[in-house]
Amino acid sequence: MTQPQPDWDPYSSAASANQSAGYDDQRRRCPVAYSDALGWSLFRHRDVVSALTDDAMFSNMVSAHLSVPNGIDPPQHTEYRRIIDRYFSIDRMEALEPRCQEIARQAVQALPINGELDVMAEFAPEFALQSQCAFLGWPADLHRPLRDWVRKNHAATRSRDRDAMSAVAFEFDRHIRAVLEERRTTGSEGCDVASELLRERLGDRTLNDQEIVSILRNWTVGELATISTCIGILIAFLAEHASMQRLLRAQPSLLPAAIEEILRIGSPLVSSRRRTRHRVRIGGCEIEAGERVTLMWASANRDESTFEHPDEFRLDRNPALNLLYGAGLHVCPGAPLARLELRVLMEELLASVELTPSTSSRPIRAVYPASGFSAYTVRVTKR
Ligand code: HEM
Repeated sequence: MTQPQPDWDPYSSAASANQSAGYDDQRRRCPVAYSDALGWSLFRHRDVVSALTDDAMFSNMVSAHLSVPNGIDPPQHTEYRRIIDRYFSIDRMEALEPRCQEIARQAVQALPINGELDVMAEFAPEFALQSQCAFLGWPADLHRPLRDWVRKNHAATRSRDRDAMSAVAFEFDRHIRAVLEERRTTGSEGCDVASELLRERLGDRTLNDQEIVSILRNWTVGELATISTCIGILIAFLAEHASMQRLLRAQPSLLPAAIEEILRIGSPLVSSRRRTRHRVRIGGCEIEAGERVTLMWASANRDESTFEHPDEFRLDRNPALNLLYGAGLHVCPGAPLARLELRVLMEELLASVELTPSTSSRPIRAVYPASGFSAYTVRVTKR
């Protein structure tokens, strides 16, 4: 089979300079586009939704490495989700809220009043880490290795260094396996997430270490990087729209919907992968069986045929169309946790400080595969 000619390159300087603008342009010119890096990328909302909802045609088994539940198809995927979804129940989120508020309060109290800080270096990752550890019930001595691990993971992903990525994944596994071993030897009495996962049953057996490590790795990768990115996008938007800060202070009940609309425009996640099971025709293109397909969230959520004037912040849009947390079988199980963390942090920020863009430092946009900002400096004043 001959390889299609590339239509675009996600790593090109043009695509990276301003990812949203680059994807908007690509969606208008060539909405189903081939690249050597990503295979077939789907840029339109309707094409992404049709891939998300056609499990007979699109598979999530895109890698030889075990990835629970992201890289698994039904019926096994359904079994895993039955276990996983319980960890994000309303009751659990309500129980976690006070601790999450405390972490947010401490983070906001430590802000430099009448000073500036780079949200991406000095604020967002630490809040994400603290909240993640609170959710997982992980001890303070795991915070530092996790912090180092996130930094190394980010560097390895950015440099596309496969050996470094494997080494970082291995390092994470080592930390988690040590936690599991410890929980096992202390009789799994604990009520943290690792101890609970050790007791979970999949049919007639317990989950094995490889499955638990994979679940925890996905929760950690899913959480730390994406939550940080979201915080950067939200703070930047608020800093640049003083009227929005006033509106949300006056009507805090608008905050959950406002967060999702800001993140629709700003797209914290760029893409996810699939593989075709059979030959499929999509967006006028014939894609063979077994091909790599990339769902471009960062484009689909800004598709003007679904979201009129996509750059405008509007609270009257249909939330069911927002693909922030995906859709279909693989819809994000961690959405309730993400929503909780982002809401309580924004509540604390809005209650305590005014945010304005820095007058001395310019924002630096993240480049693919990261999203949002790699640096965003904000000025903080007391309310
Ligand atoms: C604002 C933050 C977050 C965003 C924007 C986000 C977004 C998404 C999206 C779009 C998907 C669908 C991927 C696909 O269809 O291929 C997804 C799946 C997933 N997310 Fe999230 N997520 C966030 C936070 C979290 C958190 C906090 C966790 C867990 C602690 C998490 C765990 C997962 C997992 C395990 C999946 C795979 C689900 C499956 O394959 O069945 N995410 N997320």
